[in-house]
Amino acid sequence: MTAGRWRAVSSTGEAVDLEPCGDGPMLARRAAVVIDADGTEHQVTRPVVALCTCDKSQRRPWCDSTHKSVRRV
Ligand code: FES
Repeated sequence: MTAGRWRAVSSTGEAVDLEPCGDGPMLARRAAVVIDADGTEHQVTRPVVALCTCDKSQRRPWCDSTHKSVRRV
């Protein structure tokens, strides 16, 4: 499943559902790879990862909690 800018797949290549987490990131559970809009692959090393949706993270694609101080329009 995609969330606009990200796509996550499991170690078997199956799409991983992304779950919104309030007004913050999208959560990907049991993903092996996150693929961004440019096609760049980001290896996942944790059971659950948070993907930035505000575009302000300094660690994109990962959420670094910057969204908490960003006002969304
Ligand atoms: S959603 Fe958390 S830093 Fe962007």
